[in-house]
Formats: sequence, C-alpha cells, structure tokens
Amino acid sequence: MIFIDACWGRATPRTPVWFMRQAGRYLSEYRATRARAKDFLGLCKNPELACEVTLQPIDILDVDAAILFSDILVIPLEMGLGLGFYEGEGPRFAQTVRSESDLSRLQPRAFERTNYVYETLTKTRAKLPQDKALIGFCGAPWTLATYMIEGESSKQFAHSKRMLYANPSTLKKLLAILCEELKNYLSMQASAGANALMIFDSWAGALSPAAYLEFGWQPICEIADFLRTKHPEIPLIVFPKGVGGFLEMLNGNFAVLGIDWGVSMAKARNLLGERFVLQGNLEPATLYDANAMEQGAREILRAMSGQPFIFNLGHGMLPDLPRENAQRLVEIVHRGIA
Ligand code: CP3
Repeated sequence: MIFIDACWGRATPRTPVWFMRQAGRYLSEYRATRARAKDFLGLCKNPELACEVTLQPIDILDVDAAILFSDILVIPLEMGLGLGFYEGEGPRFAQTVRSESDLSRLQPRAFERTNYVYETLTKTRAKLPQDKALIGFCGAPWTLATYMIEGESSKQFAHSKRMLYANPSTLKKLLAILCEELKNYLSMQASAGANALMIFDSWAGALSPAAYLEFGWQPICEIADFLRTKHPEIPLIVFPKGVGGFLEMLNGNFAVLGIDWGVSMAKARNLLGERFVLQGNLEPATLYDANAMEQGAREILRAMSGQPFIFNLGHGMLPDLPRENAQRLVEIVHRGIA
C-alpha cells in the first residue's frame, strides 16, 4: 500500500492522495445511500450502508486510502449525552458536561458500544482492493470536550475556556476520561481492520499555544505512546487544525502530522520535515475553480518534492464542490510535477 509506505517515510513510486471528508454531500451517490438510512447517525450505525459510503470515493476518485465513514461524536454519544444532527445547524447534545457531577453521569466504556464502527471497518477491509489503505479515526480529547461542554458547535468556546481557566482540574478529569476511551477505541479499530489511524483536533487553534500544549497536545501524546506500544505496525496521523503559529513546538511519538491550509507546506517542511511525514494541505475552496486548484496543487507538490509526503486538502471537502475537480485533482497528484 503506497499510502502506508508514505506514512512510514518509505520511498513511493508516486505521491499518495486522499481527502478529508471525501465521502459526503458533494457526491450524489452519498446522498442516495444516506436517503436509505433514517438519518446521518442511522447511516453511521448501519455497517452495510456505512461500508458502501466508505468505498464510494475509492471507486469515484481513485484515492489511495478510504476513511471509515462515521463521526467523531459517536464516542460522546455512547457516553450517554444524547446526540442529534439538525439540518443547517449541525450537531447538538441533549446533555452537556459542565461540572464534576456531570462527569459522574458519563457512562463508562463507550468504546464497547461502538460495534457498528468495528463491523464497518471489517466489512470495508474485506471489500477494499489490496493496494488501498483503510483509515480509522477519532476526535482528539480537546475537540470532543468542546462539543460535550458547549453542547453544540461553537465559535467562542466560552464554557470550555471558562472551565479551562477557572476550573482546570474538572477539564483535566474530562480529558483523562476521553483519553482512556480513545486509546481503547482506536486500538479496537486497529484490531477490526484499520491500516492507519487518525486523530482530528479540529479546534486546536481555539487555544493559546501554552493552553493547547497542556490541555490539547499532552492527551494526544499519551494516546500516541499507547498506540506505538500496542500496535507498532499501524501508523498514526495527527491533525491539529490552526496551530501554524507554533508548529515547531509539536513533538510526539507518531508517524504523520496533518497540516491545515493556514500554513504553507514550504514552511511546514522547513520546521518539521525531519520530525514527521507531512500530509496536506490544499485550501478546499480552490476546488471551486479548476485553475486555482491546479496551481495550488502544483505549488504544494513542488514544495514537498524529494520528501515522503501524503497529499490531502487542508481541511474537509465542502458539500458543494464539483466532483469533477476532485477527480481531476487525484489525476494531477498521481501524475506528479515532473
Ligand atoms: O472524512 C470522511 O469522509 C469520513 C467521515 C467523517 C465525517 N465526519 C462524516 C460527516 C469524519 C472523519 C468526520 C469528522 C468530524 N466530525 C470532525 C473533524 C473533522 C473536521 O471537519 O474538522 C468534526 C468536527 C465532526 C463533527 C461534525 N459532524 C459536524 C460539526 C457536522 C455538521 C457539519 C456538516 O457538515 O453538516 C458533522 C456531520 C457530518 N459528519 C457529515 C458527514 C459526511 C454531514 C452529515 C450529512 O448531512 O450527511
């Protein structure tokens, strides 16, 4: 699998490519499968349909890796918070976690109630071509904590930051609980057939560097250390979004660092090219225009030439991007810049 070779820094015949949120509403095939499930969570919980959606970008785009179709919020859901996804609004929890007594109500061992995730992985691995990798994933403790504390998507993170500064020991307890869940959850995903694992820290950039290193990065390093010992053959990708201002401070026991579109790949390579294999980072909105996309892709490929590298977008695929451009982008990366 050239994707796995690249993760370990081994030479590959061409640059592997896949896209965050590569399964989703920009594909009519996704919308058709989703219509057969009751709703988005029904799709995540149905291994047959989730497997179908996981495989669609492989068939349609010819990307080098499939990513499990699920959501980072299934872990808080299975901790008993009651999750709904509402049209035009995004996710919302029925219960929030804002005090020590809220912590004591969290149901332990959520990772034992996500059999639908492990089944989806096993089914998908069995159907995937041998040369395509399967990526399992979870949300980082800090990002999951923000959803659990706020109860929904947030711009200011007022409740989460109040807890961080006014009540840090409560936040640390919540992060420790999540850390234990996620170690087990990712380990079970590896055992179920994932060839690589990824941690999404979508709200890393909401914190100051010092606060992030203590409350966001430390728990990720703990999960990485655990996985390195338990599954040394499985590469881990970490994607902390919005940390361009302090990239050089990121150290950890994992293979690949995902770079978001807020930093140039040239800068990321200078600062971290020796420490990690890098993945990134085309601004997803360039896919609105074929020329902007091609120019952006070539710049990234030039900046990374001669270095093991995984091409990706700098954040998730947008729901209204033209699929033709996504297909064309895979061709551009596979052809290379020579
Ligand atoms: O990348 C993939 O194709 C795999 C599947 C995947 C989804 N969500 C499917 C999804 C992955 C890896 C995620 C991760 C995720 N989920 C993150 C981290 C990555 C990031 O984007 O920063 C976050 C923050 C979430 C939480 C979440 N899920 C939100 C805020 C929303 C609503 C926003 C939206 O786009 O509607 C979701 C829903 C969601 N997760 C959809 C998909 C395809 C859209 C649901 C639909 O209407 O079909």
